[in-house]
Amino acid sequence: MSLIVKNIGQIVGIDESGRTRVAGKEMDTIGMLGNAWLLTDGERICDYGTMDKFPDTDGCEIIDAQGGWLFPSFCDSHTHIVYAGSREQEFLDKINGLSYEEIAKRGGGILNSADRLHETSEDELYRQAMERINEVISMGTGLIEIKSGYGLTLENELKILRVIRRIKENAPLAVRATFLGAHAVGRAYKGRQSEYVEHVCNDMIPAVAKEGLADFIDVFCDKGFFTVEETAKIIETGAEYGLRAKIHANELAVSGGVEVGVEHGALSVDHLESMGDEQIEALSGSATMPTMLPGCAFFLGIGYPPARKMIDAGLAVALASDYNPGTAPSGNMRFVAALASIKMKMTPAEALNAATLNSACAMGESNDYGSITRGKVANFYLTKPLPSLAYLPYVHQTPIIKDIILKGKHIN
Ligand code: NIG
Ligand code: FE
Repeated sequence: MSLIVKNIGQIVGIDESGRTRVAGKEMDTIGMLGNAWLLTDGERICDYGTMDKFPDTDGCEIIDAQGGWLFPSFCDSHTHIVYAGSREQEFLDKINGLSYEEIAKRGGGILNSADRLHETSEDELYRQAMERINEVISMGTGLIEIKSGYGLTLENELKILRVIRRIKENAPLAVRATFLGAHAVGRAYKGRQSEYVEHVCNDMIPAVAKEGLADFIDVFCDKGFFTVEETAKIIETGAEYGLRAKIHANELAVSGGVEVGVEHGALSVDHLESMGDEQIEALSGSATMPTMLPGCAFFLGIGYPPARKMIDAGLAVALASDYNPGTAPSGNMRFVAALASIKMKMTPAEALNAATLNSACAMGESNDYGSITRGKVANFYLTKPLPSLAYLPYVHQTPIIKDIILKGKHIN
């Protein structure tokens, strides 16, 4: 069914240029149209214009925005939203002075979540994850990437990926799945990291590919986790099975993760809290999208990525939430955009471009998502009337979202 939204104060994120990403200085510009309407045709955006040329609306569902603004849904290109339970005990450990690495070395962290996932049924995992999915939908997310990585055994990696597939089939938002078997060394392989890497390459990747459970492959390439050589081996094996790489890089140290990602044509390299000029140089001219997760730096109390330097060097950058129980227990992309402005000095337009078009690009999906474009999927939300664009990240906790439309369906 078609749907028309009328009396829109401003449509934000209009882009008919056909570009798949926005880089450098251009990130500070975002297309807007005032006093507008927007028409969908089933799942897609059909047309938009100004209220003085309002089209025939016979047979359409009509939404009166009453001067509220229309934004393209957030695209969240990096999450670990399928997990069992929570880890607030480690939150307390951090308050008492332990670092993320120290907690991981004691067998906590990712391995703690893996233990819980092992003892949780697929149905229960799905139930918990859907609560989080509904939460992020209500906060404006319309396309989300979800990683495995809390299984760390063949059976349990398949279990978590099957839960992601079920979300893909049933949730109103769009989902992309990433296999992250190399998130940490599974307990059964303690002290035998290279054997675990063999297991990931020889057993897990083929099994995941056979069931068609993943779109992408990821490795936690960082100090205390997987090396550059191990990362290269895993993503090369993934490529043989048609899985494009997205890498966890440079969260805890300058890890070589950026360079190995760029060399292997990764879709994105994510985190980047530890970045030098060489890494920015390595990204220049590459198709790999640097993706920042400021919710993680906020939660861990570590330094933020040098976003200003990257944009000023002409790079395109993306933003994502990293929603996970250990380093970013929130999927609120408006808060992520606010952190990008407050902590990394990105302008509201840069933050919005990074959290929509560029984040869609970090999933290879910017031809269909990430902007208000004729022919793209009709994923958008309506707000109350706003005084300016900056108001959106400025009042980052105020509930200003009124209506959500995903794949052309008015879902609330
Ligand atoms: O992106 N850094 C690795 N993975 C997650 C944390 C996972 C966890 O602690 O459960 C991240 O921050
Ligand atoms: Fe992550």
